[in-house]
Amino acid sequence: MVNFIILGAGKGTRMKSILPKVLHKIASFSLIEIVISLTKGFNGSNTVVVTSEENNEIIKNYDVSTVIQKQRLGTGHAVKEALNLLQNNKRTFILYGDTPLIKSETLKKMEQEEADLVVLGFEGELEEKYGRLIAYDTNYVKKIVEFKDLAKKEKKITLFNSGVFLIKTDILLSLIPKIQNNNKSKEYYLTDIIELAFNNGYKSKFILCDKTEVIGVNTKQDLSNCELILQNRLRNFHMNNGVTLLNPASTFFSFDTKIESDVTIEPNVFFGENVVIDKFCHIKAFSYLEGCFLKEGVCVGPFARVRPHSTLGKFSKIGNFVEVKNSQLANDVKAGHLSYIGDAEIAENCNIGAGTVFCNYDGKAKNKTIVKNNAFIGSNSSLIAPLIIEENTTIGAGSVINSTVKKNSLALARSKQVNINNYNK
Ligand code: UD1
Ligand code: MG
Repeated sequence: MVNFIILGAGKGTRMKSILPKVLHKIASFSLIEIVISLTKGFNGSNTVVVTSEENNEIIKNYDVSTVIQKQRLGTGHAVKEALNLLQNNKRTFILYGDTPLIKSETLKKMEQEEADLVVLGFEGELEEKYGRLIAYDTNYVKKIVEFKDLAKKEKKITLFNSGVFLIKTDILLSLIPKIQNNNKSKEYYLTDIIELAFNNGYKSKFILCDKTEVIGVNTKQDLSNCELILQNRLRNFHMNNGVTLLNPASTFFSFDTKIESDVTIEPNVFFGENVVIDKFCHIKAFSYLEGCFLKEGVCVGPFARVRPHSTLGKFSKIGNFVEVKNSQLANDVKAGHLSYIGDAEIAENCNIGAGTVFCNYDGKAKNKTIVKNNAFIGSNSSLIAPLIIEENTTIGAGSVINSTVKKNSLALARSKQVNINNYNK
């Protein structure tokens, strides 16, 4: 069993945003949530997130302890704030909330090393502003020097610090309080723990990983680089599970999208948070889905929008320019064109004609429409909620319906056509 300390209290001034850095999102999830998800692969682990007041809200949803770092005095100070919440586990991982792409396998590889401290490093380009590992004996490190503090000859080093450490907990507890802030930024650098360890006779080993796993998000450019890498991983993941992507580069997934095999996704489709898609569905081009469950064989799009709290029943069809929000559609419901379906419950085998609008909002509250089995809603109808349309009903095209339509009936609510003969224009 291990402890995790995740650092996420920094402001992230280089992001030029009022939003704290670790709340910026990739694949619809905040960076800090993605980092927290890494701890799942370690049974019985204890996780402490160092956070700020603003970030605390989102973290409450997770099974972690939090500590608020009131003064942001650097990564070393942030770790110090977490020490009281550590459990009696032999070792402690330190992860940065702005480094979301590390793979669980890489953390497991670090765990296999038995050194007092294990540092995750990577090879990068000279101009990059990461801390440098000063190595000795091939794969040990005696010091980490921050980019700002590099001496001239150290500038040639291309072995970088990712920020991920695995440290024996007793060593961590004894060395963190010794970190000083005598550097150019007047910050308490966590990275100074390596030199302190070296001077106290402890050994810090480093292992290397691919750079794509350890991009630290400090700017909006870093954020977009991470988005692209994560999207490519998600695209490959879904294709490996049997999903057909006609143009993977134009499909954007959420970190939590779940898709069964034999689903086909056409180009330019966006998945927001919490979408679940059962087998044999077909998502046509330019569709936008979030917070919805598509059962077997559903066809959506092109140009469709399915919004949160919606379920589309088996073999139902949502066509072009149809929006569905907070609605439950049973099996075989068809809404082929140009409709808004909001706050509705639609039973099996109903047909919603082109241009139908579920008028759910009266200016104050959202109201519900219930449509029972086999109803046929003629094109361009307005259904004013709250409303019940009973089974086997037909609504004549162009109707404005605002009271219950009884079973097996036809409802017409439109002005009668007048023909004036021999009319002179
Ligand atoms: C840090 C490392 C650097 C490494 C790089 C990898 C230090 C001193 N430097 O630099 O060696 O190459 O990461 O990406 O650690 N944080 C707090 N409280 C604070 C300061 C920061 O919680 O007082 C959090 C931030 O929210 C962030 C993480 O710590 O998630 C790292 O801080 P950041 O300022 O981004 O460090 P870097 O300059 O990137
Ligand atoms: Mg950083």
